[in-house]
Amino acid sequence: MFNPTHAIVPYFPPPRILSCTPSHLPIDAAHSSEMHTVSAHSSLAFLPQAHHNAFAMQKIPVEVFPSSQDAVAKLAAETAELIRSNEAAGKQTVLGLATGGTPIAYYKELIRLHKEDGLSFANVTSFNLDEYAGLPQDHVESYWYFMHQNLFNHIDIKPENINLPSGTVADADIPAHCAEYEQKIKDAGGIDLQILGIGRTGHIGFNEPGSPKDSLTRAIELDPITREDAAPAFGGLDNVPTAAITMGCGTILAARRIVLMAWGEGKAPIVNEAVTGPVNDIVSASYLQEHANSVFYIDQAAASKLEA
Ligand code: GLP
Repeated sequence: MFNPTHAIVPYFPPPRILSCTPSHLPIDAAHSSEMHTVSAHSSLAFLPQAHHNAFAMQKIPVEVFPSSQDAVAKLAAETAELIRSNEAAGKQTVLGLATGGTPIAYYKELIRLHKEDGLSFANVTSFNLDEYAGLPQDHVESYWYFMHQNLFNHIDIKPENINLPSGTVADADIPAHCAEYEQKIKDAGGIDLQILGIGRTGHIGFNEPGSPKDSLTRAIELDPITREDAAPAFGGLDNVPTAAITMGCGTILAARRIVLMAWGEGKAPIVNEAVTGPVNDIVSASYLQEHANSVFYIDQAAASKLEA
């Protein structure tokens, strides 16, 4: 079983402050947050002006959709356009993919576009964000299994172009495995479009509180809140893995475009924290404030606590 002492970046659980003010933060984080309040996010330019003005506190562009279905329809159409334009230029498209309940409708829409609209994934390479430590590929809760059930088995992506971190690599080999994952992403030309959900701790991938902005793919100990959220799927807390291998925040932030999806009232507080709060390592999604081409696609319920 995974031993966290082998993690490339050791994990030291910080105090859990989900609603923090700059005074709770290290000087650098508080400073960078202030910087962001004054320097507009460069991609705000593509938002309608009224939207920008109405949400002056928001430091990441947010598109609020009437329903999650509307949001995934737009994101899937964007994805299809990206794949087709790259294909026309003779290029591969590199997608960064996420798991969890949130992206399932998006994957369904991609499958529909493949079956009904002829969208081919033959020129797509995928990199998933993360995998539970200790789970083999055929475990029903492994992310490898999830991705095959919810997407890969229904499209024409080539198996050799599918990449996920391994949950069963020997502890001693984890650093090399993570370095290899990073190298594969680089060799593929970097990620064109990174899809994200958000965990209740504010994590992207499994970058739990305390994850540095420049962190790379590594082993990480899961936060108790994250394990609690996963407990029903695993039939109880005791069955939930205690660790995972995840792309780092730096890996994610290197993507050329990032779209974070969130649905439902349960996500509303953490969405607000990520979008309007200070940039800090407690809520790793807040780092997206410092990305030039990141956007949140959320439904009205997830937008219900956004501070204007
Ligand atoms: C897990 C995954 C995240 C995901 C999160 C939220 O922690 N590692 O990538 O965003 O769950 O899951 P859900 O979409 O089910 O709320």
